[in-house]
Amino acid sequence: MTKAKITVDRDFVLSDLDRRVFGAFVEHLGRCVYGGIYEPGHPTADARGFRGDVLALTKELGTTIIRYPGGNFMSGYDWEDGVGAVDERPKKLDLAWFSTETNRFGTNEFIDWCKAAEVEPMLGVNLGTRGMDEARQYLEYCNHPGGSHFAELRRSHGYEAPHDVKFWCLGNEMDGPWQIGAKTAQEYGRLAKETAKALRWIDPTLILSACGSSHRQMPTYGTWEYEVLDHCFDEADFISLHTYFANKTDEIDEYFGVIDQMDSFIKEVVAICDAVAAKRRSPKRIMLSFDEWNVWYKAHTIEHMRKPGWPEAPALLEEIYNMEDALIVGGALITLMNNADRVKCACLAQLVNVIGPIMTETGGPAWRQTIFHPFALAARYAQGRVLQAKVETPTISTKAVSDMPLLLASVTEDPASGRLAIFALNRSATESLDVTLDPRGFGSRLEVVEALELHHPNLKAINSKAAPDTVTPTATADVRMSDGQPQAILKPLSWTVIVLEDAEARDR
Ligand code: AHR
Repeated sequence: MTKAKITVDRDFVLSDLDRRVFGAFVEHLGRCVYGGIYEPGHPTADARGFRGDVLALTKELGTTIIRYPGGNFMSGYDWEDGVGAVDERPKKLDLAWFSTETNRFGTNEFIDWCKAAEVEPMLGVNLGTRGMDEARQYLEYCNHPGGSHFAELRRSHGYEAPHDVKFWCLGNEMDGPWQIGAKTAQEYGRLAKETAKALRWIDPTLILSACGSSHRQMPTYGTWEYEVLDHCFDEADFISLHTYFANKTDEIDEYFGVIDQMDSFIKEVVAICDAVAAKRRSPKRIMLSFDEWNVWYKAHTIEHMRKPGWPEAPALLEEIYNMEDALIVGGALITLMNNADRVKCACLAQLVNVIGPIMTETGGPAWRQTIFHPFALAARYAQGRVLQAKVETPTISTKAVSDMPLLLASVTEDPASGRLAIFALNRSATESLDVTLDPRGFGSRLEVVEALELHHPNLKAINSKAAPDTVTPTATADVRMSDGQPQAILKPLSWTVIVLEDAEARDR
C-alpha cells in the first residue's frame, strides 16, 4: 500500500478560519428563489412562503453567509421593485437569464429568510445599468435607522429596525461581455471607488468587495485586478474570484487538476493585491472573497441558460452532481482552508436547484445532491484555526499539472473544544493510501472521535428523488490509533474527515 504522512504542530498556525468561507449564493435565476427557497402553497411552506424542507437542509448544510440577489441578475436589478406591497410589485424582463421576474420575493423577504435559516445576508449593488446613486439609496433603505426618506420607506414596509447588512458586493463580473452594462477596468475601478466612498459615508462599518475577473481564463485576467485595485485599493476590503470547474476530458486524473488550478488562481490574485499594496508602500492587505465557486459544466449550454418566451422561474442550470463532482468539491474546500490567511469569504454557487447542493421538485420533496456532503462535513467540523500541514505524498503528472500530489489535506484545530479535524482527499484512482497522522503538541491521549468517508465505486453515481442517498458519507473503521499515533487507510478516490480529541484535556 502506498504510504503518506500528514504532520502538524499546534504552534504552527496558518490562520484563524473565517466562517464566511462556508457561504453560499441565492440568485434570482431559474428555480433558486421561486420553487427553491420560496414556494407559497408548498406542503412544507410557512405563512411567508418559505419552504421548510429547504430551510432544514440549508441549516444542515451549515452555510454561514448567503450572497443575493445575483450574479448576472444583479446588474439589471431595480431593488425598489422588490419592496413594499407584493401585489403592487412590477413584473419585469430579466435580461441576464431571459426570464420574467415577478418580484414577489425581494430584499425584505430575503432578510427574513436569512433569519429563519440562521445565516448572514450578503447584498450586492447594481453597477451595470445603475450606479452609485441607486447604491447609496439601497444602503440607506437597508441600514439607516430612520429619519431619512429611504429609511422611512423601509419602516413603512414593516421593518422598523435596520437590516444592518455588513458585507456588500460592488457589482458582479463587470469584466464579462455577457454582463448587463459591462465595463473596462478603468471605468469600473473609478465607479467602485466612488460608490464605496459614498456607501462608507452612510455606514462606516461596511465590508466592501470589488469585482475581480469573472474567471482565470478571461483575456484581461491579472491586468483587470491590478487596474481595478489601483483605483479602489483604499476603499475596498475584498476582491472577488469566481470559478466553475469542468470535467473536460472525462479522465479523473485530469479533472482533479482543477483543484490545483484553483490554488494557483488564489495565489496569483494574492500576488496582484500585494503588488498594488507594494506600489503604495502600504501595509494594508486586500482579502479574497471567492464568492462563486462550484462544478458547472453539464448544464452549461445555451439551452440550459435560456428558455424561449420569457418564462417565470424556468428550470435553468439544473446540474446533476455525481460522485466525482463531490470529490472535486471536497478538494476545493481543502484548498480554501489551506489559503485561510487570505480567503476570508467564499460562496458555493448556488444553494438550491441552480448548480445547487440542494435539489427540489416544485410541489414535491427536496434532497441532497452529492456535493452537499463534503460541504456540510467541512462546515460542521472545520472550526477554529487552520494549521500548516506538511503533507508527504506520492505525486502523478497529468497533462495540466506536473507533480500533482495524490493526497490533499487540511487540518483545523478548535481551541474551544480542543478538537482537531483532518480533511483528506485521496486522488489515486488505483491505490489506497496508508496515512500516518503526526499531530505534535496535542497531549499524549489523542482519540479518534469521528471518521467519515465519502466514497462510491461508481464515479458517475448520483442522488435523485427516487434514490436520494446513493452517495452519502459513512463511518469508516479504517482510522485508528496505532502505538499512540493516528493511522488511516484512505480508499482510492475518497474524501475523508477525521476528528481527534485530546482525552486528557477532556477528562480534566
Ligand atoms: O452562478 C451563475 C452565474 O455565473 C452568475 O449569475 C454569474 O455571476 C456567473 O457567471
